Amino acid sequence: MSEKFSTVILSDSEKTRKLLVRYLSENDSFQCLDELSDLSEVYNTLSSLPKSLLIIDVSKDFFKYKDLISDIALAAPNCKIVAISDNPSVDLIIKVMRAGAKEFLASPVIKSEFKDCIDRIYNQLTDNSASSGKSRLITVFSNKGGIGKTSIASNLALELAKITKENVALVDLNFQLGDITSFLDLKPSFNISYMLQNLDKINSDFILNTVERYKDTSLYVLADPPYFKQAENISKKQISTLLEKLKETFSYIVVDTDSTFDGKTVTALDNSDLIFLVTIVNLPALRNCQRILDLFDKLGYDSEKTQIIINRYMENDEIKIEDVEKVLEKNVYWKIPNNYFTLMSAINKGVSVAEINPESNVALSYKELAMSVSDMVYRKKLIKKYSESQTDVIDKILRG
Ligand SMILES: Nc1ncnc2c1ncn2[C@@H]1O[C@H](COP(=O)(O)OP(=O)(O)OP(=O)(O)O)[C@@H](O)[C@H]1O
Ligand SMILES: [Mg+2]
Repeated sequence: MSEKFSTVILSDSEKTRKLLVRYLSENDSFQCLDELSDLSEVYNTLSSLPKSLLIIDVSKDFFKYKDLISDIALAAPNCKIVAISDNPSVDLIIKVMRAGAKEFLASPVIKSEFKDCIDRIYNQLTDNSASSGKSRLITVFSNKGGIGKTSIASNLALELAKITKENVALVDLNFQLGDITSFLDLKPSFNISYMLQNLDKINSDFILNTVERYKDTSLYVLADPPYFKQAENISKKQISTLLEKLKETFSYIVVDTDSTFDGKTVTALDNSDLIFLVTIVNLPALRNCQRILDLFDKLGYDSEKTQIIINRYMENDEIKIEDVEKVLEKNVYWKIPNNYFTLMSAINKGVSVAEINPESNVALSYKELAMSVSDMVYRKKLIKKYSESQTDVIDKILRG
């Protein structure tokens, strides 16, 4: 007999509750738990179960349930959360997904939509691969050294893990002088070269059990090999197979690169869904950036795939953002403020910038960048969901 997953249904509307209980009773894989008296009992019950489902109606008051959703998402990653609302605005859907819900349904819930959703949840609960079903690979690149790639990759990956509560991998592809272990003060037992040598053996369980987890977060760090020798003779095929395996396991993979255009960097760039091309505002850096954009064009990359990040941005820079955009013939996606003191004290202490000062301009910028990346993903999911029928909804989603 197949496994039955305990389910809690929370709704202020008796009618909705009854409807959902009836729909659920027609499914053999889920069983409804008796009504629980308060939210702390819901939290205690669900966080003690290995796998479960929470269906939560946020029609009346999302903020009443916001903390419950994010606490459960953090304490029990295998409790899948489905939110429903009779007023499903794009804003609300994004807020709910960001809090930790995996699915969203409009209320009154249509039986066929409920069934499809529950089937997807069942697949997620019985499969250890990436929970969102679609993983996103983001490579942080610049052909200039010391421009801020590692700072961006490590802080972005950590913020993505905190915001989405999904499993995020941070991969150090800088085999010569990788910095991530010192940026995050880690001494991992397994490094990337171990993974590359055992490609035939690794699966999601193996990866999640061996790759170093950062503190209590859902960030996993795949460090560079400690000895140069271990980095020799690694083929492009090995790198792309590793990235494929990581895509099966993580919802987001953030790759930090070195400044050379070697085989492993190009493999990561080829396999990326999104490339953050980092520059600072000075002429040599911008010229380099221009060359890279030309090269990406020749490599056939879609122009949307590459987004520009200006690092160490200062309001009073002689060269303005409009000038940068003119030179690069491309919009600037993000600006990270110059904050030498906060960056240096984070690097010296081996912690994230948010740990030094979460309210600093630079910590807020990394956090908002992570939100923007996760929103992009949620928006894409919504577009896919509505793409067959509702063009007006798609317009709204695209406009944000
Ligand atoms: N937003 C910022 N404001 C001020 N200083 C910064 C900022 N971002 C990075 N730095 C500083 O720039 C230096 C280089 O940063 P980082 O190591 O992230 O660059 P990188 O591109 O990864 O370098 P490499 O090419 O050596 O790998 C660090 O000392 C860091 O303190
Ligand atoms: Mg670096």
